[in-house]
Amino acid sequence: MNSLLPDTAPDFDQPVAVLKHCHGRIRKQLATLEKLLAHLPQHGADEQARQAASAVLKYFEKAAHLHHEDEEQDLIPMLRAIAQGEDAATLQALAPVILQDHKDMDAMWQDLHEQLTAIADGSGAQLSSSTVQRFAQRYLGHMEREENTMAPMALRLFGPEQMRQLGQAMQRRRGIDTGNPAAETATAAVPDVAMPGGSVPAPGTTVSVGERVADLRKDYGRASLDENDVLDDPIQQFTRWFEEALKAEVNEPNAMGVSTVDEDGRPSSRIVLIKQFDARGFTWYTNYDSQKGKQLSGNPFACLLFFWSELERQVRIEGKVERTSAEESDKYFNSRPLKSRLSAIASRQSAPIASRADLEHHYEDVARQVGETPQRPENWGGFRLVPERIEFWQGRRSRFHDRVVYTRQEDGSWTRQRLQP
Ligand SMILES: Cc1cc2nc3c(=O)[nH]c(=O)nc-3n(C[C@H](O)[C@H](O)[C@H](O)COP(=O)(O)O)c2cc1C
Repeated sequence: MNSLLPDTAPDFDQPVAVLKHCHGRIRKQLATLEKLLAHLPQHGADEQARQAASAVLKYFEKAAHLHHEDEEQDLIPMLRAIAQGEDAATLQALAPVILQDHKDMDAMWQDLHEQLTAIADGSGAQLSSSTVQRFAQRYLGHMEREENTMAPMALRLFGPEQMRQLGQAMQRRRGIDTGNPAAETATAAVPDVAMPGGSVPAPGTTVSVGERVADLRKDYGRASLDENDVLDDPIQQFTRWFEEALKAEVNEPNAMGVSTVDEDGRPSSRIVLIKQFDARGFTWYTNYDSQKGKQLSGNPFACLLFFWSELERQVRIEGKVERTSAEESDKYFNSRPLKSRLSAIASRQSAPIASRADLEHHYEDVARQVGETPQRPENWGGFRLVPERIEFWQGRRSRFHDRVVYTRQEDGSWTRQRLQP
């Protein structure tokens, strides 16, 4: 069972009951926040307060997001697909309200997040009563709306197949195995790492790590990849692998290499964090005036690379990069913690600066100037790589690896081929 859900949660074959159960958990967290408000003035950030703040943080950082995604990506679209007449009209009016609630609650949460983080690590004891009240009221109203309309509608309209589909999507989102054999292989035992004895230096001699690196040899053998077993759509295949990477608790599964090329054809790479992927492409956020930003303005072709070492998997994605809309960039920018927003404003990314002290002074100046609701700077936003070629690589024994590459055709469909290792 997933750690984000309590053991007493209903089974995922009753997905609507699971969603209601999540509401119960949210109500508990809101009650903890209220208690914390009363506790802090008397006791400060004592052990009890720190634990309470950590618990609330943990819940709203993870489980609450998953719950919102269940509704946004599965429940509402599934209801939209089948609702008719009065139900369709109710949904048309309700869905935008629900989505706006999520957005506004996320924004309020960002303010609480900063304060609770400080309480949890003992560096602060401030918790804004008005923000807690607004957050709680909004959430309580929101849950009531859902419980009075969407939940009964789903129970009335969904048949066993829709319930199964919703339950499975919710499980996958939480990294719970839904009977996919590849996922089981992916969590099998970790293979040996071989350091051959030949690397032992003769007495009296020293071998530098730069030379010894050639002796680091790891044989791969956790799983295989067959061109007949992969999904037809590479984005769905990527989704499956990403979910398996989450389930396997791969270190930073969302970190990817981005390679760009300058006007002289010289490549450069760096790691960024993917923030969204869907049929449109793979999105990350950065400074448009950075080195990568300038290179992409001159040459929009780029390559992304994921390496999920624990699963012995690599995914290489090539294509053309475009900027996300200002609206999309604003949405993501506003969802970030305040300090991250201030950092984005304060940093002229990739430009030289004399010292760390200068950087921090500049940050303080920016923080004073822009206050607590800074606007996204125009030179900061999203890039989306629209894929043309996606290669999935699975490590196999003795370097005889599996590689399957998808290539996008002019009509938007994908073909796939096995490549030699
Ligand atoms: C794990 C990790 C995650 C990172 N995520 C981002 C990111 O999402 N956006 C970003 O602009 N830089 C990110 N960076 C920093 C970049 O690697 C890079 O230093 C920065 O974007 C400047 O690159 P450039 O000078 O090539 O434009 C990340 C670095 C690491 C190691």
